[in-house]
Amino acid sequence: MPLFGHMIGIFDSGYGGLTVLKALRKRLPQYNYLYLGDNLRVPYGSRSSETIREFSEEALQFFFKKNIPLTVFACNTASAVALPFLQEKYLRTPGVTDRKVLGVIIPVAEKAIKITKNKRIAIVGTRATINSKAYEKELHKLDPNIKTIGQACPLLVPLIEEGWHHKPEARSILKKYLAPIKDFAPDTLILGCTHYPIMHDVFEDIMGTRVHVLDSSTAVADSLADYLNRHPEIESQLTKNSDSSKSGTVTFTCTDAPERFSEFAQKFMGGEKITAEIVKL
Ligand code: DGL
Repeated sequence: MPLFGHMIGIFDSGYGGLTVLKALRKRLPQYNYLYLGDNLRVPYGSRSSETIREFSEEALQFFFKKNIPLTVFACNTASAVALPFLQEKYLRTPGVTDRKVLGVIIPVAEKAIKITKNKRIAIVGTRATINSKAYEKELHKLDPNIKTIGQACPLLVPLIEEGWHHKPEARSILKKYLAPIKDFAPDTLILGCTHYPIMHDVFEDIMGTRVHVLDSSTAVADSLADYLNRHPEIESQLTKNSDSSKSGTVTFTCTDAPERFSEFAQKFMGGEKITAEIVKL
C-alpha cells in the first residue's frame, strides 16, 4: 500500500465509524480519507481499559506508519478510554511526532453545552465509554453546573449490526435502557456510540420532542471543519500532494474478512461500490 500523506485517517473498532465517515465526507468533500475498521477485534466496548488502549495504540501506529497527518478517532470507546493516554504518550511530548489526532468526546460535549437549556444532559454509549465517565468529565470542565446521567446500552451494537434496529424487539430494549434517562428529564441526549445514529429516529420517538438527540458524527464533522480553518499548516498538508480531481475518495482497510466488511460498508454508504483491503495491526 502506498503512503497516504495527504489523507485524513478515520479509526473505528469496526463498522460504526462509517457514520462518522459519511458525515465527514458530506461536510468536507474536498479531502481524501483512509478508513480503518478493526473488525477482527470488535467490539471494543465490552473490553478492559488496558485492552482498548493496546488495540487503539496499534491502530494509531498504523496511521503514523502511513504518514497520515491527521487522524480522527471515530470510535467513542477508543476516544473515551485510550485517547487521553495516547495523547500523553505520543502527542503532548515534544519531538515525538507532529501528527494530530482528534477524538469525538470534546466536540460532542461542546455541542451539547451549546444546546442544553435546563443543564441536564444524558449520555448513552458502550459499557467502557459510560464507565470511563469521559463525557461527564468534559461536560463538567465546560460547565460545572451541568447535571448528567450515563446509561450503557450494550445490546444495541449487535442488534444494529444484525440489521434488527427497526424491529419491535430493539425498540423495547431501548425503551428499557432509556427509562431511567426519561425520569432524569434531560433536554439533551448524547448518542455516544458510532452505531446509535442508525437508530436516531427510535431514540427521538422514545424520548419525545422536548429532548434534543445529538449524534456524535455531525458534531465531529463540524468540529473538524473548524479545526482545519484554524490550522492552515495541517490543511495545506491535506491538499498539497493530492490531485484535486480525485478528492472525496476513501480507501477502506479492515483487519478481518474484507468481503464481509465491503458488503456491510456498501450498504452503509448507500450502495456505493466498496472494496476493502485487509491490513495487519
Ligand atoms: N465503535 C464503538 C463506539 O463508538 C462501538 C462498537 C464497539 O463496541 O467496538 O463506542
